[in-house]
Amino acid sequence: MTKLKLAIGSDHGGFDLKEEIIVELKSWDYEVIDFGCFNKDSFDYPDSGHKVSRAVASGEVDRGILICTTGIGMSMVANRYSKVRAALCRSCDMTYLTRIHNNANMIVFGARYTTILDARAMLIVFLESQFSEVDRHIKRVEKIEKCLGPE
Ligand code: RB5
Repeated sequence: MTKLKLAIGSDHGGFDLKEEIIVELKSWDYEVIDFGCFNKDSFDYPDSGHKVSRAVASGEVDRGILICTTGIGMSMVANRYSKVRAALCRSCDMTYLTRIHNNANMIVFGARYTTILDARAMLIVFLESQFSEVDRHIKRVEKIEKCLGPE
């Protein structure tokens, strides 16, 4: 089976976890593009968040991984892109359900709450589980992309 191509990014709050995740992903033979940050200096999460989101939205990569302290800022950035479905996950169950129900193509971690062991387990689920292509889930995911108005 062809391996998914991945993009990853963090801010300073997620830097250590990002580095550990990259080691894991490479040991699993995934191709991963690192969009920074590249050290622990203070870094604005939207800067790498937009880069990873654009890579997913454009199809340059199949899936994305974003990490900041809480995971919330990165989620806000990523979900501005209509082709990105970013899920802030804290358990394998959430990760499984967001793949099955929402066809999530971006996983977001809050480094303050997520160990490398937890991230590792969630990534296995994120990368290996398939969207449930039943009508109700397809219809709901299509509705996410529809802009219903300014309200
Ligand atoms: C950085 O201090 C922090 O605000 C950031 O990592 C993230 O949690 C924002 O949502």
